[in-house]
Amino acid sequence: MIKLSLILFFLCISLPSSTEIAYKNEEDDYKTQLLSSAKQDKDWLISIRRQIHEYPELRFQEFKTSDLIRYELQKLNISYTYPIAHTGFVAEIGTGSPPIVALRADMDALPLQELVEWEHKSKSDGVMHGCGHDAHTSMLLGAAKLLNQRKDNLKGTVRLIFQPAEEGGAGASYMIKQGALGGAEAIFGMHVDFGIPTGTIATLPGPMLAAVCFFVARIEGKGGHAAEPHNSVDPVLAASSTILALQQLISRELDPLQSQVLSVTYVKGGSALNVIPSYVEIGGTLRSLTTQGLQRLQQRVKEVVEGQAAVHRCTGSVDMKDDEFPAYPATINDKTMNDHVDQVGSMLLGPQAVKISEKVMAGEDFAFYQQVIPGVMFGIGIRNEDVGAVHSPHSPYFFLDEDVLPIGAALHTAIAELYLNQHQPSFTV
Ligand code: NI
Repeated sequence: MIKLSLILFFLCISLPSSTEIAYKNEEDDYKTQLLSSAKQDKDWLISIRRQIHEYPELRFQEFKTSDLIRYELQKLNISYTYPIAHTGFVAEIGTGSPPIVALRADMDALPLQELVEWEHKSKSDGVMHGCGHDAHTSMLLGAAKLLNQRKDNLKGTVRLIFQPAEEGGAGASYMIKQGALGGAEAIFGMHVDFGIPTGTIATLPGPMLAAVCFFVARIEGKGGHAAEPHNSVDPVLAASSTILALQQLISRELDPLQSQVLSVTYVKGGSALNVIPSYVEIGGTLRSLTTQGLQRLQQRVKEVVEGQAAVHRCTGSVDMKDDEFPAYPATINDKTMNDHVDQVGSMLLGPQAVKISEKVMAGEDFAFYQQVIPGVMFGIGIRNEDVGAVHSPHSPYFFLDEDVLPIGAALHTAIAELYLNQHQPSFTV
């Protein structure tokens, strides 16, 4: 008798309740329906992506790309606001009332010569979609179509942000200044990830990508004949000491458990073998997993350059190139929103398909949105040896597994829809 009741007890706790079963069935229906709608759009998504890929455009010049996507939105009867930050625009779908959630894609390409020989290779010499932004743009357009088909059931508003100039131009910051976020209370973005297979995603709460800036330092001395160094003030020696001193900033001043990078990537000065030049220019990049860390590093770089130059009787100055390449904050994923991505990803693609992302010291201007509202930037897998999708972004051999397109469109859609469902205002009397 005792044995029987024990067996019954274990059966009770291990079997799902009827509510759980109903919920599971509902979830399965949702997933099947959404993925099959997205799959039906696959050929259309591929054709859009290939058009964008053939005519890549650099930051703030994404006119054709912007035209193409807006033309498609018009055909779908989806309203949008244009222009924002030159070529950017925001489409809006839903009730027009809160809750409001934002999805974001970047549209710009890289100054890179594509070396992949295929039918839809870039037709613009020296410009390539080598970071997958053509896929990001197409996937968000795909989401626009899916959300529009399902708009009667949307419990709020989705803002779809198509932005220019992610590659160094801080397009996101201009979009924000010009009101792109509207009343959005959370934002989600995805970036193709060649390190994980198609059909998977990778995400992480907290710091995920670095705060980034660039710098150019100029060290002025006094040029002269190389045979008479005493009659000149040598900026080459001053620059050499400066480069070495800069390398001590991270090794001696940063908590070893923190992450920063200081890379000097070029040295320019002089052109003759027997002339001491009047100045030397060095330049490079600074990175930190915290925005405050980057600001401190910027300050110390200025102090070291000025100090080292002075030691060698030169004058030193640093330009952080903020006009040309504005500093990016660190990309910090909100914990609660990250749980949402995790749950939606598991539901749509299966629990095994959600990986833990690695932190990378690259930058992403999505971080600007996260300074205003909670958000998550996560990776969406494109690795597929069969089609040659094995190269890192910014490689001239970068190649996309186009199977990702409907997956990304469905994922964007589910993330937004389910966010709205879970953030209904609670009315109190
Ligand atoms: Ni990118």
